[in-house]
Parts: sequence; structure tokens; C-alpha cells
Amino acid sequence: MNTRIENILNKQIKAEATSSQLYLAMASWAENAGINGTANFLYQHSDEERTHMLKLVRFVNERGGKADIPSIDIPQKEFESLTHIFTLLLEHEIMVTNMINEVVYICLEEKDYSTHNFMQWFVAEQLEEEALARNILDKLKMIGNDKAGLYLFDRDLETIQNVKPGAPNV
Ligand code: FEO
Repeated sequence: MNTRIENILNKQIKAEATSSQLYLAMASWAENAGINGTANFLYQHSDEERTHMLKLVRFVNERGGKADIPSIDIPQKEFESLTHIFTLLLEHEIMVTNMINEVVYICLEEKDYSTHNFMQWFVAEQLEEEALARNILDKLKMIGNDKAGLYLFDRDLETIQNVKPGAPNV
């Protein structure tokens, strides 16, 4: 595997692992705050990010590269509110989208069309994840500080299908 591609995919492995840890910290905070629907949603989202990481690890190794299993910085532990959590989540996903775009750009520069093809799954996934986070934030803005609205929001979030069809088999 081309070293430049291997390096940027390893950077992406760390980004997906970092996402998984951040969402796990958010899930734990929500669970301790008694916001159980949101906690379940975030636990599931954390698992999903781990499958993204594994998909990359397997791809790098199968293509003759060496996947780096990274150490992860301690994630933020305290959050102010649900709006704070989902604002951070959206910002984080936008950063990940920019990283994925950079991987795709380097694949084209290096004429690595099979990695480019592999990365298209991540391009589509980022669109979905950003749209979901924006949708959740719009709902939270509408609800404001209405306690009954927040109760229903939390209940509904538990039933949102967070794992999409076509999720990676790892
Ligand atoms: Fe795997 Fe949410 O990016």
C-alpha cells in the first residue's frame, strides 16, 4: 500500500476511535443525568463509530499496509445540556467529514482508485450523520426549555434507528 495512503488512513482510524470514545463519554453523562433515551442513542452511536474504525483497520491490513491501533486522548466528561452535546456532536462530525474529503482527495492525487472506491461508503455515511445531528438540533431548538417537550424528545430518540442498513460488516 502506498505510504501516503497508509498514513492518512491511519489518521482516519484514530479519528473514528476518538469519535467512539467521545460519544461513549456523552452517553455515560446522559445516563447519569437520567436521560436514558439519549444515553441509548449515544451508546449505539459510539458502537457505530467503532465499526467505522474496524472497517478501516481491516482494509489497511488486507491491502498490505499496517493499521496503527492508536491511543486516544481522554474525552470531555462534562456537558451542560442536550443542546451542548448535539452541538459538539455536529461540530465533530463536520470535522470528520473534512478529514474524509481529504482522504478522497489524496486517493485521487495518488491515483489509488480502489481506496477511492472504498471511501465512498464513508462519504455517504458522513452526509447521513451530519443530517441526523442537524435534525436533532433543530428539534431541540424548537423545544427550548419545555420540560414535557424534552421528556418526549428523549423518549423519541430511543426509537431513532441509529444503525443504518449497509453498515459495514467487520
Ligand atoms: Fe465515523 Fe461519525 O464518523
